[in-house]
Amino acid sequence: MTGVNIIGVGKYVPDLIVTNDMLSEIVDTNDEWITTRTGIKSRHITNGEPTYHLGAMAAKEAVQDADIDPKDIGIIIVTTITNDFSTPSVSCLIQREIGAIGSLAIDINCACSGFVYAFDMAKRYLETDKDIKYALVVSAEELSKITDYTDRSTCILFGDGAAAVVLELNDNKMFSSYLGADGTGAEFLLVRSYQSETPFTTNHDRFDDKMPDGNSHYLFQNGKEVYKFATKTLPSAVINSCEKIGITPADLDLIIPHQANIRIIETAAKNLGLSMDKFYLNLENHGNTSSASVPMALYDAVKDGNLKKGNKACIVGFGAGLTYGGVVFEF
Ligand code: UT7
Repeated sequence: MTGVNIIGVGKYVPDLIVTNDMLSEIVDTNDEWITTRTGIKSRHITNGEPTYHLGAMAAKEAVQDADIDPKDIGIIIVTTITNDFSTPSVSCLIQREIGAIGSLAIDINCACSGFVYAFDMAKRYLETDKDIKYALVVSAEELSKITDYTDRSTCILFGDGAAAVVLELNDNKMFSSYLGADGTGAEFLLVRSYQSETPFTTNHDRFDDKMPDGNSHYLFQNGKEVYKFATKTLPSAVINSCEKIGITPADLDLIIPHQANIRIIETAAKNLGLSMDKFYLNLENHGNTSSASVPMALYDAVKDGNLKKGNKACIVGFGAGLTYGGVVFEF
């Protein structure tokens, strides 16, 4: 079976830490509500550094950890929903910062499932293009850019951060992926982009009556619908990605889920009949950082020894789109 070696890992979070108590000074909330409903205690928030800077810092560490020349990176895939510019892409800006000039550079937007999608995509590039020796996957997010800090139902959830991995192909490692999306749930989690308003536009009617109205560029979430979707898709993505290579979730050493909410992960663990010990958590100190959450947790699991060489692991994400996905791999 063809899989991947993760030969380098990196992570970067801004210095500024916002605690639940700090949030309770700006919206009507409290530490007890946030902790019991989400498991989150604090999150890192940018103090002005752009998204690409967080990503570049994580990428530099991953490249250094892999001990490779950045010029040997054949592809950079960046996952983000909080790019600094519509164009150029964050991947081009990170490429410039780390000196990997000449590599293929692409941004993908699969929301919180982004890293899981990109991990699978990187493996496919490594497998089909023999000129690509190393792939760099970077997930960088500044959800603070799209968070309404007057809305207590969302501002308590999100944080900023980035993480990166360097991958190479390994012909003797297990790997399977199960990725998907359900666009019928698009209206449950969204961030509105610019609308075309030209001097020639005469029709100001709403075009899409499925999406909630408004011009706000802040994140809108129907928390209950997303919660239902998450508790269903997290276990099914784990089961299906395992099934594809003939193992069961009980055979996994570690599951690294999207760090959205402790209650979602506890429900998934129960539905899978697994103990919470199998699930890696770092949401207490990071909150939900969208696509960066899975690789940030993966990084922490490597550094604190919870993910060891030879372990069978599953990374699993779910989020806006609605998207979902699981990848099983041997570390
Ligand atoms: O990465 C994207 C994936 N996103 C997610 O996974 C999010 C999924 N959804 C969730 O995690 C949960 O739905 C939330 C954490 C967002 C909300 O938890 P909930 O248990 O569904 O709470 P709720 O929305 O039903 O609100 C319960 C009560 C309401 O008050 P009333 O109407 O019962 O009087 C809210 O107004 O809690 C109130 N509330 C708050 N109270 C204190 C909502 N936010 C807060 C708050 N502090 N921050």
